[in-house]
Amino acid sequence: MKFVAIDMAEALFFSSTDKVQRYKELLPQLQALIELEANSVANMANFCAALKETFGWFWIGFYLVENDELVLGPFQGPVACTRIQKGKGVCGTAWASGKTIVVEDVEKFPGHIACSALSKSEIVLPLIKNDQTIGVLDIDSTELASFDATDQNELEKICKWFASRL
Ligand code: SME
Repeated sequence: MKFVAIDMAEALFFSSTDKVQRYKELLPQLQALIELEANSVANMANFCAALKETFGWFWIGFYLVENDELVLGPFQGPVACTRIQKGKGVCGTAWASGKTIVVEDVEKFPGHIACSALSKSEIVLPLIKNDQTIGVLDIDSTELASFDATDQNELEKICKWFASRL
């Protein structure tokens, strides 16, 4: 299959500031942005930019499984730690368990790895492809308890679709 360069990368459009509505409107726009492009790095980069543009979170990025550790992938936000061991921090714990972790207050998560003192709450979702965790999506906020059940459900749906494309 041949992939053609597309020229549609304009600002995303949202009709409302309501979070549920934003998630609903984001998915088709993300799919339009990503489904015609085969390059995973390009797609992860645009994925992070789209989430940043939609929700304004402090840090959004990928850590990808490489041998026995997670290695930093495309992200939006300040510089971050490059490698995380399995079972360490929120990311390494989400990798080890294969489950989403929502952290309302990072100071209360034992072993949390602080890449920035400004980060106060966090959600980490495993990226599962063919029953294997191939990486995680990590999102940080400067506010406490930024991520609720809606974020978890909607981001899990988005990650399920996106991991299948990596
Ligand atoms: N806080 C993460 C480390 C990655 S940074 O937040 C970007 C963790 O505890 O795994």
